Amino acid sequence: MDIKIAASILNADANNLEKEISSVSASADWIHVDVMDNHFVPNLSFGINVLESLAQKKQKPLDAHLMIEDPDNWAPKFVEAGADSVTFHYEAAKDSKKLIKELHAMKSRVGLAIKPKTPLSDVKEFLSDIDVLLVMTVEPGFGGQSFMSEMLEKVKEARSIINNEKLTMWVQVDGGVGLKTIELASQAGADFLVVGSAAFSAQDPGKAMKELRELAVKGSIN
Ligand code: DX5
Ligand code: ZN
Repeated sequence: MDIKIAASILNADANNLEKEISSVSASADWIHVDVMDNHFVPNLSFGINVLESLAQKKQKPLDAHLMIEDPDNWAPKFVEAGADSVTFHYEAAKDSKKLIKELHAMKSRVGLAIKPKTPLSDVKEFLSDIDVLLVMTVEPGFGGQSFMSEMLEKVKEARSIINNEKLTMWVQVDGGVGLKTIELASQAGADFLVVGSAAFSAQDPGKAMKELRELAVKGSIN
């Protein structure tokens, strides 16, 4: 399993995003941008303009995580804005199949996210069509929450489907991924790990990210 790390800038210093991103760029492969609308989740965050601005000075590929209603309408606009991968929530989409096709036609990678209460069986039919399955390991909406270890079963289940059906999608986990949990997540079969406060709240984000990557790689080979 080839480990990919995405740095979530939700809790980074918004006044210094460029610098914050540079500080972790040696150990992060992607920048994860959380988009929230105060409808799908009880919080507001970045919109299209932030994504556009990050895309103009792109240091790493951009992974947009849309926690919004009506992704059917909005997700393509994030590809236009410069996202390299767009993940929308299955629970919010009217027609996931159609949206996956549309985003692929725009040459974006496509992710499908499920909240903790949504079983994997709900999205089984889409797994051969997507590039990323995002298993949420907290209730979406806020950074700095505790990792829900019950979700590791879902990760294991996804990994065994990938192995049995020879699928190519990545399994992403997002929420509460830190020094105590990252190795468990990669051991369970997650190969795309989103790290927010565990890096950006650390004294030295670059050093924290490096340690986190080492632990993730360790988990992936055990
Ligand atoms: C939560 C967001 C996450 C969040 C992760 O809804 O989707 O990407 O930023 O932050 P941490 O790593 O602090 O849990
Ligand atoms: Zn996220």
